[in-house]
Amino acid sequence: MASQDNKLRIPETLRKVKNIIGIFSAKGGVGKSAISLQTALSLKDKGFKVGLVDADIYGPSQPVMLNAKPGELKLTKEQVIEPLVKEGIKFISMGLISDEKMPVIWRGPMVSGAVMQLLSQTDWGNLDYLIVDTPPGTGDVQLTLLQRIPLTSSVIVTTPQEVSISDCKKGIEMINKLGLPISGLIENMSWFQPDKEGRKYYLFGKDGGKQLAEEYSLDLLGQLPLIELEEDKNLMENELLKIEFSSIADKLEQSVKNLKEKKSDGIPQVNISK
Ligand SMILES: Nc1ncnc2c1ncn2[C@@H]1O[C@H](COP(=O)(O)OP(=O)(O)OP(=O)(O)O)[C@@H](O)[C@H]1O
Ligand SMILES: [Mg+2]
Repeated sequence: MASQDNKLRIPETLRKVKNIIGIFSAKGGVGKSAISLQTALSLKDKGFKVGLVDADIYGPSQPVMLNAKPGELKLTKEQVIEPLVKEGIKFISMGLISDEKMPVIWRGPMVSGAVMQLLSQTDWGNLDYLIVDTPPGTGDVQLTLLQRIPLTSSVIVTTPQEVSISDCKKGIEMINKLGLPISGLIENMSWFQPDKEGRKYYLFGKDGGKQLAEEYSLDLLGQLPLIELEEDKNLMENELLKIEFSSIADKLEQSVKNLKEKKSDGIPQVNISK
């Protein structure tokens, strides 16, 4: 991407997107994709125009959760991708792109290049929020994504156990080093409660994410229980999680508002080079 003035250049297709939120977790399988989708749906339910990008080239999971097939994607005459609309949100995934159908996408050999192409060659139109579900890790891919996607803010997802927490610290430090804002942390799979009124079982330890948030002075956006999927089938249908995500969406909205106010107060925004 050309960036002569050391500033992140915003692709044309993202110019009418008000806020881009990256969902990060250093550890895999902690619920990042589920949380990205739920947050997107909650924001939509509150009346916002929302998009979701599944930027996980290695293990895209959103197409499965949203029942989307590669054949559904269409290119406009201008060779721009029309995002799918699923559950009222605009949606695109690395998992929906195939070489034969979308040769225009695959010029960049690097994952981050491909993600940037996906973002910048999709006709997002007007959006209040674009949620980016990122791949797990703290390697080059995440670093480059953080540097190249013009993020408004980010959200960290962790489970309470030590292995996830220690990886997450690396993620937070990476984001802090880049000077990018973090709207808060979500602790997932915090406990399991077989009966509504019964005992909570802290299967992965208690409050690991909460303590991590305190250590780094991050807002704790929520602590989410582990849901028995057999009963609920679909995570999205769980009433308890719906309430939690409504609160997470409100906190995210407030955080973005605060960030914008700070910016307009004259606090300089961080410039990011390529
Ligand atoms: N609170 C929860 N209760 C029960 N199951 C959950 C919960 N959160 C996530 N899951 C399930 O755990 C699995 C992993 O979640 P998900 O795919 O969202 O994680 P991820 O962090 O995106 O993984 P990856 O690092 O592979 O991208 C999925 O099957 C998801 O439905
Ligand atoms: Mg995922």
